[in-house]
This record gives sequence, C-alpha cells and structure tokens, in this order.
Amino acid sequence: MFPCGFAWGAATAAYQIEGGWEADGKGASIWDTFCHEKGRVFGEHNGDIACNSYELWDRDLECIQQLGLTHYRLSLSWSRLLPDGTTEHVNQKGVQYYNKVIDDLLVCNVTPMVTLYHFDLPQALQDKGGWKSASVASLFDSYARFCFQTFGDRVKLWITINEPYVCAKLGHEDGIHAPGLKEPGTAAYLVGHNMLRAHAMAWHSYDSLYRPKQKGAVSLAINSDWVEPLHPGCPDHVAAAERLLAFSLGWFAWPVFVTGDYPEIMRSAIDAQSERLGHSGGSRLPSFSEDEPQVLGTADFFALNYYTSRKVKPGGGHGRTLCMKSDRDAEEVLDPSWPISGVSWLAVVPDGIRKLLNYIKDTCNNPAVYITENGFAQVGPLQIEDERRSVGEDKVNVRGYFAWSLLDNFEWADGTSVRFGLFHVDFSDTQRRRTVYRSGQEYAKMIQKYKSDQSR
Ligand code: BGC
Repeated sequence: MFPCGFAWGAATAAYQIEGGWEADGKGASIWDTFCHEKGRVFGEHNGDIACNSYELWDRDLECIQQLGLTHYRLSLSWSRLLPDGTTEHVNQKGVQYYNKVIDDLLVCNVTPMVTLYHFDLPQALQDKGGWKSASVASLFDSYARFCFQTFGDRVKLWITINEPYVCAKLGHEDGIHAPGLKEPGTAAYLVGHNMLRAHAMAWHSYDSLYRPKQKGAVSLAINSDWVEPLHPGCPDHVAAAERLLAFSLGWFAWPVFVTGDYPEIMRSAIDAQSERLGHSGGSRLPSFSEDEPQVLGTADFFALNYYTSRKVKPGGGHGRTLCMKSDRDAEEVLDPSWPISGVSWLAVVPDGIRKLLNYIKDTCNNPAVYITENGFAQVGPLQIEDERRSVGEDKVNVRGYFAWSLLDNFEWADGTSVRFGLFHVDFSDTQRRRTVYRSGQEYAKMIQKYKSDQSR
C-alpha cells in the first residue's frame, strides 16, 4: 500500500532536456564543452537543442498533466543562472525561465523537487580546477544560497547534488563523462570529497538561513546498485560484496547518514593498495576537517537513485594499477536470469530495490526515502507499445517515487540513442513531438488508481 501523500513523480535534468545551450546569456557548462569535442559522445550527439524544453516547456507541462503527476523533479542549470558560475553576474533570463516553470507547476498542483547540480558544472569553474579544487565548495554554497533565496519561497524539496559517485568516477576516473578526465585512483576521491563538502555547506546554509522561514527539506541524491555475493557461502565473495557497497552507497551515505566519515572498509582497502603499490603522500581518500561544517546529519531525507543490481566476487581490477577498481577488488557479474534492458549495464532486478531499501532502513537509521530516479531504457527500433516497467515497494518509509525520465532525452555518453522516457521525443522533428509510451499510460493509470483510492 502506498501511504497517504505519496509523491508520484518523474524526473529530468537541465542538460538532458533544455537545449538553448547559449540562449539568452547562458554560460557554457562542462557538458557543452565535452559534447563539442570530437569522439566523446555516441554519434557526436550533443544537448545543444535536446528536447528543447527551454522553448517548449509548455509541452512538458502538458505531459506532466497527462500523467497526473503530483511531483516533478527538475534540475537548474547553474550556468544558465550564473553564466560564470559566480553570483557576480546573474542572468535574469535564466531566473525568469525557472520562475515560470516553478509557478506553472504550482498552478497545476504539481510539487517541484529541484536539483541544484546534475552533472553540468559551469565551464568557467572547470577552468579554475573544477571539482578537484577545494574552492569549488564555497562557490557551490553561494550558488545554492542564491537559489534558495530566489526560488525557496515556492520550492520545498531540494537536492543539492545528483549522484556524486557518477560525477566523480565517470567524469574523473573513467573519463567517459564531462569533464572527461582520466586520473585513476586519485581524482575521483578528491572530487567526491569536494562534492560532500559543497553539499554540507549548502545544507547548513539552508538550515540556518532559509529553513526557519521556508520550511523545506534538503538532501543529496545517492545512486547505488544492490549487490550480493556471487556465492553467498564463500567468505571472499561476501567480503567483495561488502566492499563494493562501501565504495558505492557507503562512499556518500556513511559520511552523511551514519558516521560522518567514509566507511572504514573503503579507507582500509584504498590505503592497503597504496602501500602495496608504494604510493606515498598520504591517503588518497581525503579526511573531513573539523574546521568545516560537519557533514554528518546533512540530509533531511534519503534520496535514492536505483537502476540495477550486481552479483560480486573478488577481482575486476588490475591488481598492480592504481585505480578504483583495484582498490575495491570486486568484480561485478550479471546473473544470467536477469533480463537486460536497452543498455548493457541495466539488468532488470526489481527485487534489488526492495533489498536496498531495507538495507538503507537498517544501516542509515530508517530515514524517510524518496526514490528520486528509477528507470528502464529502450534502444533500437522505436516501440511506443513498450514493455511495462514496475517497481517493488516494501515496509520502509518511502515517501515518493520519481520515474526516470519524463521524456526521452540526451542520455549523456549515449546521446539520444538510449531512450528512458515515459514520453517518446522525436529528435528528427524540429518541434520535438512528444508521444506517450504504453509505459507512460500504465504509470498514469497507477497514479489515477492511487488518487481515487485515497479520495474514498
Ligand atoms: C542520471 C541520469 C541518467 C540516468 C540513466 C542517472 O545516473 O542521474 O541523468 O540519465 O541515470 O543513465
């Protein structure tokens, strides 16, 4: 049973849908730069126009209403609001755009959940070192304060940073997301650390300066697969699964919800590997400073992005290379019984979300949870009559569910070749025609049923 007041949502992110990449004074973001470099993204696709939601917001609103959503999760483009990333210069056109989006949602009785950062750092800040630089945290805090001040009279649900794991690892270790850095074994830990510092500063700013009046809630969106030992009877496999979970969920959830620091197994695995490889210069995993705002307790709810699960055994890295894979020493295996969605990484394991939610309940003090993303991809020939997508739900304190995504959109390194939408978007049409999928219709029916049960 879904509790009273359950949030039925769908999610999007600015770079993936907006387009208008240089419209009305917007500054470039690292994704603009990354996509404009040859060979970075499938088919040289980019988000210059994407779903053109910058111009076609009214169409998106129609889609939202057609589904009967109670909530809509969107992200703000930092460089649309603050073109050089600092509050020195505010782009009023950007402010107007988001004001309209927020106001229209509220008029239609849809609650906005707003993400401040979804992978798209202003290029101007990347030029100063980006997330590797310690000073980015206070610049993020200033941006966050600006947003709380400007939109917080109407926005009550905030996500500071979306998936720090993905930004850190894919952007700075693997180099397959912007800014495309490949600095294995070092940069990702530093970036993750600065993201946690930035998040904590913004949460404290909200807590002391805005919460008393605005009365909203702030968290960060943590992504994690559910993981299990390949052979549960084998202690090595059990330990490898624990390590992998510590390097994914634990990396960001432990500092914020559990201990105020990284999981002990994560630190000891990294330090042991440094010693083995003769890496000197202190731990590659930074430490939190007592002189800075405390990170423990800086989330008013748990925002979970869940897509898939993995079985795990030891191995996977090259033991003699400095990289995250060799640090965590856990090889991911797909269970052959799991159906694979359009993309190879996304095995469909609805049971995994139930187990992960229970794990979060047990280890993170039973927080209120919003599932801020969950989705299923389609590739290849278009099927509007797509397979139904579903989610398991249990007796944990789940307050809401946001399907990823409202629209087919720019799926990062896969360009527009991978479709996650509840609505199909025709990228060959200048009007970017939106057509509801069968899955969108099914989702709308679930929401409708919930609403009529509630009103009885
Ligand atoms: C991200 C989305 C992305 C989705 C599917 C999440 O990692 O937050 O931006 O489109 O997964 O890959």
